[in-house]
Amino acid sequence: MVKIKDIELGEFPLLLAPMEDVSDPPFRRLCKLHGADILYSEFISSEGLIRDAIKSRQKLDIFDYERPVGIQIFGGDEEAMALSARIVETVSPDLVDINFGCPVKKVVSKGAGAGVLKDIDLMVRLTEAVVKSTSLPVTVKTRLGWDEAHINIDEVAERLQDVGIAALSIHARTRSQMYKGHSDWSHIARVKNNPRIHIPIFGNGDIDSPEKALEYRNKYGVDGIMIGRAAIGYPWIFKEIKHYFATGELLPPPTIADRVEAVRLHLEGSVEWKGERHGILEMRRHYANYFKGVPNFKEYRKQLVTIDSYEGLQEQLNLIIDSF
Ligand SMILES: Cc1cc2nc3c(=O)[nH]c(=O)nc-3n(C[C@H](O)[C@H](O)[C@H](O)COP(=O)(O)O)c2cc1C
Repeated sequence: MVKIKDIELGEFPLLLAPMEDVSDPPFRRLCKLHGADILYSEFISSEGLIRDAIKSRQKLDIFDYERPVGIQIFGGDEEAMALSARIVETVSPDLVDINFGCPVKKVVSKGAGAGVLKDIDLMVRLTEAVVKSTSLPVTVKTRLGWDEAHINIDEVAERLQDVGIAALSIHARTRSQMYKGHSDWSHIARVKNNPRIHIPIFGNGDIDSPEKALEYRNKYGVDGIMIGRAAIGYPWIFKEIKHYFATGELLPPPTIADRVEAVRLHLEGSVEWKGERHGILEMRRHYANYFKGVPNFKEYRKQLVTIDSYEGLQEQLNLIIDSF
């Protein structure tokens, strides 16, 4: 049984990765429904939380049916991180996750996200400040190092464990790789095999099929796998992997009816959470993902991103079921 402190996650958990503008409550609900064992929010700026920015606050919304769910924060200032962890605690997630992996310039330049991979002492101080400020379990998500020549995940894992983190998720790329090239999980395996390491180590990067999940599970010995991009528009990935692990057989791909059902749930969640107008607008970026690979879908998608009433969208979804 894999545990993050007292949170029991089963024999081999599949984690939904934190993803900005993606991992919101409506999307997380779909992933939960289809087998994700723990969900993470998108990253939230510690400074934004403290300033009480409405956008940051809204990202704190979590619902009981999501549990276990973690909220991810980022920032480069110890006091701000400690204070924001206390703000996060007020909404009672199951854990707080710290982002030390975001590679984008506007985050890195503030010494946050993957920026701290250049300064492990700061990374350790930021983590310690968060651990000390909250009674929730604290986990970290990071990358292998700044670049190929500075892979420091071995030291990072040991030192963060020493200041009290409860689990570590490793995206097997360096900051310089951004999202390009291949992830190299051999570094994760080395961390996992370090006899000093006793916290769960979750592998992340490029898992997009049940076969690959099984291969990487066996080859790299991680405690669980975190999945990001492959779940976008395809929450079935979690169930597919679990089924393959259990039976060695692949589930058939989702039918059009399954896809429409997922879209309906996502849309409903979006409208419940954001109100009809905003919910409908936000949903528009998801349609192409849910119907990826469906031939001759262009015209239908065009309609989905144009119609601006909930009833109209339901009719369009009925039409899609009838047409395919
Ligand atoms: C659209 C998008 C947004 C992301 N936002 C975050 C984020 O807020 N926090 C974070 O730790 N990682 C973020 N990531 C990185 C993912 O969590 C994950 O580490 C990365 O996509 C590699 O995993 P994958 O190959 O399974 O997608 C984001 C990735 C994508 C594609």
